[in-house]
Amino acid sequence: MTKIKSLRELFLEELKDLYSAENQLIRALPKMAHATASNELKSAIEKHLEQTKNHASRLEQAFQELGHKPAQVTCKAMKGLIEEGEEVVQKAEKCAARDAGIIGAAQRVEHYEIAAYGTAQSHASELGYNRIEQLLQETLGEEKEANNKLNDIAKDSVNAEANQMA
Ligand SMILES: [Fe+2]
Repeated sequence: MTKIKSLRELFLEELKDLYSAENQLIRALPKMAHATASNELKSAIEKHLEQTKNHASRLEQAFQELGHKPAQVTCKAMKGLIEEGEEVVQKAEKCAARDAGIIGAAQRVEHYEIAAYGTAQSHASELGYNRIEQLLQETLGEEKEANNKLNDIAKDSVNAEANQMA
């Protein structure tokens, strides 16, 4: 395997990693939505699933622009974050406390993606890939929105509900 020696090559690796992360999420989010006790949280996760499908297709567009196929790699960070989310679901009953745990796991996912898209966007900008930079910016905005929405649900209802339980 040839080693990376340019920002362009590094950027391609970042896109592959993100593509793996989004595809893992597309498989994991329906299970997360199903595990929630709160309808509001369930629909926020389902909405983000639809956005996530878009994030994957924006990355496919980016690969196309670069004349590359979206090769199969595994984003290990996302794999671990999803496993931790599954762990909290297994450890908790279907109740507000589980929902608070799911929100925590989902916010860790969003923060990871915000960091990764932020880096990729800045690399796209340096490389002069304006169209790709724009695509990454759109996704970054939606990840931030999703994180804020999760924060609101926790603060407006789920945390207090979980705290009222025995
Ligand atoms: Fe995403």
